[in-house]
Amino acid sequence: MTIRNVLISGGAGYVGTLLVPQLLDAGYNVTVYDTMYYGCFLEPQDRLRVIEGDIRDTERFKDACWGVDAVIQLACISNDPSFELNEDLSKSINYDCFEPMVVAAKEQGVGRFIYASSSSVYGVSDQPDVTEDHPLIPLTLYNKFKGLCEPLLFKHASDTFTCVTIRPATLCGYSPRMRLDLSVNILTNHAVNAGKITVFGGSQLRPNLHIQDMCDLYKLLLEIGSEKIQGETFNAGYQNHSIMEIAEMVRAVVRQEFPENGDIEIVTTPTNDIRSYHINSNKIADKIGFRPKRGIEDAARDLCQAFKDGRLPKEGDERFFNVKALKTKQIA
Ligand SMILES: NC(=O)c1ccc[n+]([C@@H]2O[C@H](COP(=O)([O-])OP(=O)(O)OC[C@H]3O[C@@H](n4cnc5c(N)ncnc54)[C@H](O)[C@@H]3O)[C@@H](O)[C@H]2O)c1
Repeated sequence: MTIRNVLISGGAGYVGTLLVPQLLDAGYNVTVYDTMYYGCFLEPQDRLRVIEGDIRDTERFKDACWGVDAVIQLACISNDPSFELNEDLSKSINYDCFEPMVVAAKEQGVGRFIYASSSSVYGVSDQPDVTEDHPLIPLTLYNKFKGLCEPLLFKHASDTFTCVTIRPATLCGYSPRMRLDLSVNILTNHAVNAGKITVFGGSQLRPNLHIQDMCDLYKLLLEIGSEKIQGETFNAGYQNHSIMEIAEMVRAVVRQEFPENGDIEIVTTPTNDIRSYHINSNKIADKIGFRPKRGIEDAARDLCQAFKDGRLPKEGDERFFNVKALKTKQIA
């Protein structure tokens, strides 16, 4: 089946805003279905349909799926602190409506469903390399519900409905709908705008993936034959580094890009956030040939460039911080 019409739920978010224009350029017709909690940074374009809609409204979502070949499900309350603002609301979005959405898409004739889970589903592990068969030991409700959706998707896989789950590492890099609450992005923002980096803990390992590699992967998942991905779960990460190593890499880039900031200090403070994980992404390379091309330094450099040319305001924009935005809009 050739995919031409793609619906992205949550397509106005950090990933969606970078991905959508690239899918349009590649010739897809794109529908974005999003509550617009953080505004909409997508430019109106031919072949782009934007629907301000809620994935909990299953009937409306089903109508939006008419004529759609593939769904990429990104809509989410998408980190621990925002999830915790209102756990009932977050659960209703991240879990309760998920299976009805999958069923609605399938009944409407959608042929492929791509679900963005998270590599945080593993929780803490001492294993040097966490592969996809590692047990899920969630530390937070956000992790737990991300993981619980996965089998609900696979239940509905069939010859005409291809289901695949991606567990991405923490993303980094520039998007027009920026998120400055993700580790590499936070550190870069602080190094550029405060001239100082605060590291909580420092020894925890965190896998990372450049947002452009994430977009490349979603494009690949639309192009590839169903037999390669049906029923599969893939880790998707690139560099696994400790938070302190990430801080040092970011500092080196910002020193080059903003020499006027002088010697950027790294301050360490204790934390009770013990999450530490080291994910192995060999399966996705072996099975479908996905190999990330960009690293943490590239992401930090892209962000520096965006601060320099004004695409990112130095004084901050609260829409770029999920918790602040949800609180201000009184959503959570
Ligand atoms: N960014 C990361 O580091 C990362 C890492 C692993 C997994 N993921 C997953 O990838 C997906 C995309 O992440 P992101 O960083 O772009 O998130 P984001 O928070 O920037 O975007 C989520 C989008 O979903 C929309 N949304 C929220 N609730 C909705 C609802 N009820 N109905 C319709 N739309 C709704 C929001 O308005 C927002 O535009 C998420 O599912 C996230 O869990 C992200």
